Amino acid sequence: MAQWTADDIPDQTGRTFIITGANSGLGYVTALELARHGATVIMAVRNAAKGASARDAILAAVPAAKLEVAALDLADLDSVKEFATGIVTSGRSIDVLINNAGIMMPPRRVTKQGFELQFGTNHLAHFALTLRVLPALEGRADARVVTMSSGLHKSGHIHFDDLGAIKTYSRTGAYSQSKIANVYFALELDRRLRAQGIPIKSVLAHPGYAATNLQSAGPTGPLAWLMVLGNMFMAQTAEQGALPELYAATAPGIEGGQFIGPDGRNEMRGYPTLVQPIERAKDPEIARRLWEVSEDMTGVRWP
Ligand SMILES: NC(=O)c1ccc[n+]([C@@H]2O[C@H](COP(=O)([O-])OP(=O)(O)OC[C@H]3O[C@@H](n4cnc5c(N)ncnc54)[C@H](OP(=O)(O)O)[C@@H]3O)[C@@H](O)[C@H]2O)c1
Repeated sequence: MAQWTADDIPDQTGRTFIITGANSGLGYVTALELARHGATVIMAVRNAAKGASARDAILAAVPAAKLEVAALDLADLDSVKEFATGIVTSGRSIDVLINNAGIMMPPRRVTKQGFELQFGTNHLAHFALTLRVLPALEGRADARVVTMSSGLHKSGHIHFDDLGAIKTYSRTGAYSQSKIANVYFALELDRRLRAQGIPIKSVLAHPGYAATNLQSAGPTGPLAWLMVLGNMFMAQTAEQGALPELYAATAPGIEGGQFIGPDGRNEMRGYPTLVQPIERAKDPEIARRLWEVSEDMTGVRWP
């Protein structure tokens, strides 16, 4: 996959993608490039006006783009249920679900159901969304679920005794926890799909460090200023940062359980390559426990 770029995306005509958070940053670039290569893209966004303006921007660049904007607020499991039910009951087929949306390092807040915002949005909502939407992927050739993690999963731990971060809240700790949860989830999903002989691939991606709205949407105070400097001097562009998820979603030969990240130093930038999660993120026992806890928290169960 030497220096794979968006120009290498195979023709996606006839394939339908759902992208969460498709109005901004990496999700926006992913929607744009998939549309450019013939895909139908369902842009799942929480803010209708932002969704419409992202759709218009893509249409300006790709007049033939096949785009739909749909309402999905990942901080509300009722919204996740409504979105997924709409997809499944419509009887339409989905080829790839890209669990892209995320929030990073805000002051402590909670979702509508009272879960800590980063764990609730980045992990629990995507867990529920995937399980609910999965029937729409069954039977599709080369169907995939791509889940966005982060290099920061490497400092993550699942605090089973305080998943709501009620005893202690650390903005960075909660973000890392949500991003290692993405890894446990995607790998456990891969094991369960394989065990049942369901040919849907669960694949992980991370972008390295890319300048997007992520660094300004959550952080406040001195952390926000640090992020401004980081974006100015260290970050790559969103176009480059989106390549691992585009590769995970479209490159031929991808296998379930693989993790795609950038090939540069410390996986901070570069072109897509195979990377490895940190060793403890591969622990199937923790993954199984997190899965069961996530089922209890969301009320959505593996069939
Ligand atoms: N950029 C990086 O360096 C970096 C590094 C590692 C991992 N990542 C991961 O990459 C993914 C994409 O992030 P990004 O960098 O593209 O950030 P971004 O520009 O801030 O985009 C994040 C997207 O998620 C959406 N979102 C946030 N909360 C949501 C909710 N409750 N319901 C629905 N959508 C919601 C945002 O919607 P609004 O526009 O309405 O807020 C936005 O569309 C995230 O999972 C992030 O953790 C990014």
